[in-house]
Amino acid sequence: MASPPLVICLGNVVADHTFRVEDVPAPPAKIAARGYSIGPGGMAANAAIAAVRLGGRAAFWGRVGEDMNGEPLAEALAAEGVDVTGLRRVPGGRTPVGAVLVDPRGERTIISFRGSGLGTDPGWLPLDRLKGAGALCCDPRWPEGVAAAAAAARAAGVPVVLDGERSETRILVDLVPRVDHAIFSVPGIANYAPGRGPEEGLRQALASGPVKVAAVTQGEKGVLWMAAGDDKPTRTPAFAVEATNTTGAGDVFHGAYALAVAEGMDTPRAMRFAAAAGALRARDAATPTRAMLDGMLAGA
Ligand SMILES: Nc1ncnc2c1ncn2[C@@H]1O[C@H](COP(=O)(O)OP(=O)(O)O)[C@@H](O)[C@H]1O
Ligand SMILES: [Mg+2]
Repeated sequence: MASPPLVICLGNVVADHTFRVEDVPAPPAKIAARGYSIGPGGMAANAAIAAVRLGGRAAFWGRVGEDMNGEPLAEALAAEGVDVTGLRRVPGGRTPVGAVLVDPRGERTIISFRGSGLGTDPGWLPLDRLKGAGALCCDPRWPEGVAAAAAAARAAGVPVVLDGERSETRILVDLVPRVDHAIFSVPGIANYAPGRGPEEGLRQALASGPVKVAAVTQGEKGVLWMAAGDDKPTRTPAFAVEATNTTGAGDVFHGAYALAVAEGMDTPRAMRFAAAAGALRARDAATPTRAMLDGMLAGA
């Protein structure tokens, strides 16, 4: 049997420190937490974990600092089965970190630090490995890395998926024409095409370059997408679930979508596959396995 397709995920990995608290009082305050956990977060990292859980192979390309958060993140990704040989530990760099305060109602207060001193030069990326890949999935947090990897992927005939998540307009405008599948979030498409509606944003993305599919994920409203040559957008509805925690639903959607593309699914099937993965993540606050996803697609 051929080995499962490889999805290379490039971008952000974050050490998420989650504190369960009674309340988030106004300062000055000292708060005792009821619970604490640490784990990997970040769009591309969550996408890589999803691609593995769903039966693919995944590699993560990105940077962490050579500090107290960097190595545990590398170990956590490796423990999930993600190849981390393209995760660079940068001397003197500071790893991206999130402090997530969750109150008893599930409301979140998030403090995020994007990292520092990680360098932007993509020259060290192992781009020759793209030749063996089924898809490249990128987030916009390391634009120079996306530009280099997307060009190499295009040259190798490997499809590129972009998570068009909230970012500076100029970054999204620069990255979108470099990719084949531009899949935005609601705030992301507003950043990409300020003052325009979602449908106009999709049309702008398709007109900007050789983009094949443009989409916007809209939480429990599902995903609105348009392929090059379509005269109007199509909606893939969300699967009805009781959501407990929608954090990471979009990241999992992107990892699942990239795997679907790598497996050769057509766009309607890939959207449904990814929507089922996002719904299960929102329901369970955990990334589903392939068996769970197949069950949802079969209506179990
Ligand atoms: N509450 C929900 N119920 C069902 N599906 C959901 C829910 N939240 C997210 N999803 C699925 O996951 C996809 C991505 O979630 P979304 O919230 O749009 O992304 P992000 O987390 O990036 O903001 C949605 O298009 C949908 O298919
Ligand atoms: Mg998102």
